[in-house]
Amino acid sequence: MKKIPKSRAGKVNRSVSIIGTGSYVPQRILTNAELEALVDTSDEWITSRTGIRERRIAAEGEATSHMAAKAAQKAMEQAGITAEEIDLIIVATVTPDTSFPATSCWVQKHLGASNAACFDLSAACSGFLYGIEVAQQFISNHTYETVLVVGADKLSTIVNWQDRNTCVLFGDGAGAAVLRYRSGSHGVISTHMGSDGKFSDLLVTPAGGSAMPLTKENIGMNLHCLQMQGRETFKQAVISMAAAAKAALDKAGLTTDDLTCVIPHQANMRIIEALADRLKVPLSKVHVNLDRYGNTSAAAVAIALDEANRSGRFKSGDYILLVVFGGGLTWASSVIEW
Ligand code: ACO
Repeated sequence: MKKIPKSRAGKVNRSVSIIGTGSYVPQRILTNAELEALVDTSDEWITSRTGIRERRIAAEGEATSHMAAKAAQKAMEQAGITAEEIDLIIVATVTPDTSFPATSCWVQKHLGASNAACFDLSAACSGFLYGIEVAQQFISNHTYETVLVVGADKLSTIVNWQDRNTCVLFGDGAGAAVLRYRSGSHGVISTHMGSDGKFSDLLVTPAGGSAMPLTKENIGMNLHCLQMQGRETFKQAVISMAAAAKAALDKAGLTTDDLTCVIPHQANMRIIEALADRLKVPLSKVHVNLDRYGNTSAAAVAIALDEANRSGRFKSGDYILLVVFGGGLTWASSVIEW
């Protein structure tokens, strides 16, 4: 018999559901073989150390908001809603079109979502799930009825294409979800977010903010590009995602045995394997697409959710777990009854 999650007994007073998902990746494919011509690397190294075979790169003039709007359109179509019905747009990104206005305002303009309030959310790769929790709060407390959450990043603009430690890992893309109250038991059952600023140096873009405004000199030193301490990030990723997954499952009163599908952040296949091992979840239950897209930051889990949804990896009533980590460090998780 299907287990009824504990949280349904009282804590969640309004079922907030994802009623549509969408995603978009640029057409241009950058293969490992092409990267061999750019830096001292090999397809064999990249594939065996990360699982990534290719990634997508945005076209000239294609900004984060353009990708976000395309993903949002698909989510809105699936949800069966018009742009005017959206009350709030949250865009999670670390590669905004402009430092202001917010990328969510550009997305609003592209969509014609004239009734929405808009803001951006900065939690690096964890941003989409942070957005899901924020959306759930707004809908639960009756502030808004319909919320669009988008995870979108164009990391190709902040990658140092001469640094083999990072340039092989990332790609561009966007994923979106429309959330709304839906009667019945389906919906976001539990969420969990966490951060630890003492690890802020592990993944950082040093220049371009108020701490180090852009100068010719620091651009020349590539300080406007993403820097990463890979090994330590790897370690913290496994620890934080395993703990976040457990926290959301505990809140929901479920165990991994109850899950039909796990959708983790798409950074490195070895991180995903280590996570699955810790959670005692067979890899067959884990949705992976990093071989085709690499790490698309805030978009990664959103694109994977849309793919898994559209390919029928789970059906109505199934329990799924989403779990992410990113710069900050930040981490987040969510258990959903689909
Ligand atoms: N090609 C060939 N050799 C390389 C490459 C490359 N692309 N990159 C690094 N190497 C070399 C290193 O220089 C090092 O050489 P050395 O021993 O002579 O110094 C060697 O390979 C091993 O380096 P490690 O860092 O030990 O390699 P590791 O097995 O840890 O893999 C990796 C590196 C893939 C970066 C891994 O640590 C990782 O995935 N870390 C997590 C990254 C991550 O998830 N980042 C995203 C965070 S999300 C966000 O918010 C953006």
